[in-house]
Amino acid sequence: MGDDRPIGMFDSGFGGLTVARALIDLVPSEHLIYLGDTGRYPYGSRPLEEVRSFALEIARWLVEEHDVKLIVVACNTASAAGLEALRASLPVPVVGVIDPGLRAAAKVTANRRVGVIGTVGTISSGAYQRAVEEMDGTTPGAAGQGEDSFFELHLAACPGFVEFVERGETSSDQVTVLAERLLAPLGEAGVDTLLLGCTHYPFLARTIGEVMGRDVVLVSSADETAFEVRSVLTSRGIERSTGGSGMYRFYSSGDVEWFRKVGTRLFGEELGQVGQVDWADRRTTSKGHDTP
Ligand code: DGL
Repeated sequence: MGDDRPIGMFDSGFGGLTVARALIDLVPSEHLIYLGDTGRYPYGSRPLEEVRSFALEIARWLVEEHDVKLIVVACNTASAAGLEALRASLPVPVVGVIDPGLRAAAKVTANRRVGVIGTVGTISSGAYQRAVEEMDGTTPGAAGQGEDSFFELHLAACPGFVEFVERGETSSDQVTVLAERLLAPLGEAGVDTLLLGCTHYPFLARTIGEVMGRDVVLVSSADETAFEVRSVLTSRGIERSTGGSGMYRFYSSGDVEWFRKVGTRLFGEELGQVGQVDWADRRTTSKGHDTP
């Protein structure tokens, strides 16, 4: 028995690979279809309605072309813009990265001052503030109504970070200079935890960590998101039952050779060949390699 259908996941580009890595480590036997929407990146500077329409289009492609059993929105901007719309319109469960990230931060912070960095779209959407208000206190030490459980959020948009990662530039003097400028207010706010509220940012973790200093713990949503996926698979009885390794397939809506080259460096050889998705050609034409 078990459900052999793949898990679908997407991001504007390479960022979601950080979540894919955590997922593969936690549930290695699951098949995975990953789309980097590099033809339309960056999402962070676009209106939220536009990002929502991209997310819906991608999710439909994952369901209709790849028969996925669950979708991971491995992008904070798309989660902020479209998680509710996706959940309302899709026949499969949808997991985002905002709540898992906050849960991860809640477990770590001691002084209850948490910094969150993300794209302009994510930060200006108010999604993190809403998510903190909605957290019901069931997560140990999480935000809630009581004074003891509440934590302060200090938000900062980091325009430019995603572009560095997409160019394959994960550490350089330029990245450091930009990070020093953008992260200074968070250092001044005295946060002890910094939530990387964009799935691209873990690729810049070394620089961000150096700029924030040793007293600030960096947290990403990747591991908690993987735990949430595993829990949804189990509770719905849709996990793959075999112990063998899953098959992973990667697609890009932009330059597939660039995606393969930089993606392999960031993710590893398992990335393999990259299939092309052309939204303009019937909105959904895919030329990937073997289906799991
Ligand atoms: N990885 C996306 C996120 O988590 C980046 C969005 C972008 O393309 O600007 O928000």
